[in-house]
Amino acid sequence: MDVLGIDIGGSTIKAAIVDVATGQLESDFLQIETPRPATPQAVAESINALVTLLRWNGVVGCGFPAVIRDGVAITAANIDSSWIDCDIPSLLQTATGCYCVVLNDADAAGLAEMKFGTGQGRAGSVLMLTLGTGIGSALFYNERLFPNLELGHLVVNGMAVEKYTSAAVRINDALSWQEWAERLNCVFHYIERLLSPDLIIIGGGVSEQAEQFFPLLNTRAELTAAHMKNRAGLIGSALFAAENLYP
Ligand code: BGC
Repeated sequence: MDVLGIDIGGSTIKAAIVDVATGQLESDFLQIETPRPATPQAVAESINALVTLLRWNGVVGCGFPAVIRDGVAITAANIDSSWIDCDIPSLLQTATGCYCVVLNDADAAGLAEMKFGTGQGRAGSVLMLTLGTGIGSALFYNERLFPNLELGHLVVNGMAVEKYTSAAVRINDALSWQEWAERLNCVFHYIERLLSPDLIIIGGGVSEQAEQFFPLLNTRAELTAAHMKNRAGLIGSALFAAENLYP
């Protein structure tokens, strides 16, 4: 079965048609800038443009950077505050005419990594962290997702983790890899004390430069870079939508 996977991020929106049995992309991988301000109406129009470009007329799975309960955004940390209480599937269905399913973006990336990537067949506790504009987190125990874990908003050393260690902070504050890794170590130690994961999977664009900072990290848990790179979010969103149709 094919599903259109969409990943809405603070900086870009990514889309591709996904074969949910294999995780392979069945279309071009499209990426556009997130409109500014990223209001519900503006984002819905961008998504309709992507649906039209891909000539899609089927189910859409969409990852969104907020706590999502039954399709409704409960928080809006890195996106316009007008998303709070928005019923995102209804908004997108009205804009595109397609049946839409929505989940947290990091949960989506984690689902993809557990099914097709580096978490495949991993029992025990696996934590996926996406380091991007914000920090997303997804926790699995014996391959089952505990949804809407928001570790990016934990306060460590008096600062919210995502304001201290996101990939965007490394660039904006011109931190060296060493300086950034020191911050990551501090946060990872705190998280390890809380959750004791067996495996930590690092996603987000910066995971493609793992060789620059993995050697500087000293987690007790095994550490791996996400396999599906910046496609994990949209692949997992498609997967989640398909599983929701045929649970
Ligand atoms: C949001 C999370 C999201 C993460 C990555 C955070 O600011 O609160 O829900 O997963 O950014 O986009």
